[in-house]
Amino acid sequence: MQRLSFNFPADTRTLPEIGKLAADAGGSAGFDDVEISDIQLAVDEACTNTITHGLKKDPTRSFQLAIQWKTGEIEILIYEKGEPFDPLQMKQPDLEAPLQDRQVGGLGFYFVKKLMDIVEYHVDKDGVKTLRMIKRTKIKP
Ligand SMILES: Nc1ncnc2c1ncn2[C@@H]1O[C@H](COP(=O)(O)OP(=O)(O)OP(=O)(O)O)[C@@H](O)[C@H]1O
Ligand SMILES: [Mg+2]
Repeated sequence: MQRLSFNFPADTRTLPEIGKLAADAGGSAGFDDVEISDIQLAVDEACTNTITHGLKKDPTRSFQLAIQWKTGEIEILIYEKGEPFDPLQMKQPDLEAPLQDRQVGGLGFYFVKKLMDIVEYHVDKDGVKTLRMIKRTKIKP
């Protein structure tokens, strides 16, 4: 198992670097290009939420990112102590509703859950929020 951890400011300009770190780890874990772009999308969306919703784009605040992987599996953890958030209260996006009735936004977390195999969200008693995402390579015939 290999592990890297980072501290990033709440600034969306960090996103390209984070995407590259995730892609490099995914490549070394043996994911194919399609899977690597799924991982990048999920990490980009999760970090965007952390930066914009959790930390209100305040670059004096920061979040921690850990990426660990082994052949066939990658795990990404994002730790942040920002705005309180209970994902259980989050509404499922209504994908059947007519376009004009749909809310803008609210799809990101839904896609993260689609793109990754396991997505868990945990808040500890000090208010630190942890988003844990795992993806495994598909068994190829
Ligand atoms: N890390 C976080 N801290 C606080 N609130 C969060 C966090 N992540 C998500 N949220 C809340 O959950 C809601 C849904 O997140 P989601 O990513 O699905 O949609 P969105 O970011 O509003 O829009 P988009 O479709 O552009 O991603 C957000 O609007 C926000 O209120
Ligand atoms: Mg979002």
